[in-house]
Amino acid sequence: MKRLKTIDWVDDGVVIIDQTRLPGELIYQRIDNVEAMFHAIRELRVRGAPAIGIAAAFGCYIAIADFPEQGSVDDLLTLLEKNGDYLADSRPTAVNLVWAVNRMKKRALELVPTAAVTGIKNKLLQEALAILDEDRRMGRAIGEHGAKLLANVSSILTHCNAGGLATAEYGTALAPVYVAAEQGKLFTVYADETRPLLQGARITAFELQQAGIPVILICDNMAATVMERGKVGAVIVGADRITANGDTANKIGTYGVALLAKAHNIPFYVAAPSSTFDLNLTTGRAIPIEERRAEEITCGFGKRTAPDGVAVFNPAFDVTPAELICAFVTEKGVIRPPFGRGIREVVGGGDRL
Ligand code: MRU
Repeated sequence: MKRLKTIDWVDDGVVIIDQTRLPGELIYQRIDNVEAMFHAIRELRVRGAPAIGIAAAFGCYIAIADFPEQGSVDDLLTLLEKNGDYLADSRPTAVNLVWAVNRMKKRALELVPTAAVTGIKNKLLQEALAILDEDRRMGRAIGEHGAKLLANVSSILTHCNAGGLATAEYGTALAPVYVAAEQGKLFTVYADETRPLLQGARITAFELQQAGIPVILICDNMAATVMERGKVGAVIVGADRITANGDTANKIGTYGVALLAKAHNIPFYVAAPSSTFDLNLTTGRAIPIEERRAEEITCGFGKRTAPDGVAVFNPAFDVTPAELICAFVTEKGVIRPPFGRGIREVVGGGDRL
């Protein structure tokens, strides 16, 4: 199956697919300084919770890559701390971003007693590469658990893009679709177009088409009709942050889809790796929700569709209450209600894949 490399380490540098150019152009962009990485994340050239975590980890390494060998370890740590905080500030909602930055900082501190500057730099590159590789394996494992969960379903609906282009390879919500395809089963995927930035139309429809998976694109306001007509066996979405009780932040519109699924008696699943769970927050009310520029709504993709100066509210994410979620699909298995305990047991354990 043809798979695109969302983000990769090539010839001593990071290369991303510029997702703002999809589906028209498949452009690979080299990112060689920390400011460029900050803007690539903020402007959604690289996007999706796991992918921005990987990007931030490489960004941390890039920030210290040219630090002189004769410099002091303390100065190296200060540089990492400062640039890590800068990168973590690029987008507020997906916890994977700050998770990856913290993991890079923690690794550096662990190395201080035994390693000098060059050793720390090399090991930090290894850590970023490990985050990339783990994400690949987590996606595959989510796909295996999800394909079993969806064994009796032949068509799903998804919102936004939680596919390969949001991660290192398999995706989260789309991972079961790819694993099932490898096993000879083709799902039909209804893809919400996902206003205002059209991640469903531009990215989900694109990557599924590239992979040869049947995909049917709908406008966001058509999801109720598709469900009412019995076309959807399950809804599966990704997540940007899941709190200790199971409340889940994901792309704006997800909450509405969850309510529709409940009204039509269709199971609603969330697929995410353990790096998306934030056990420091007890409920979704504490999740910071990114608000973006008005022009994304009034002048999307360069065409003015609303009067100049109109007031706009543009939250990029919403929070689906845990009660609307039937199960979480993680790399370590499926978590069913009651979520509090299940999440602590499955995700709190800390074992890496
Ligand atoms: O604003 P985006 O495109 O980064 O939002 C992405 C989503 O909401 C995804 O569903 C989520 O990050 C999960 S990706 C595996």
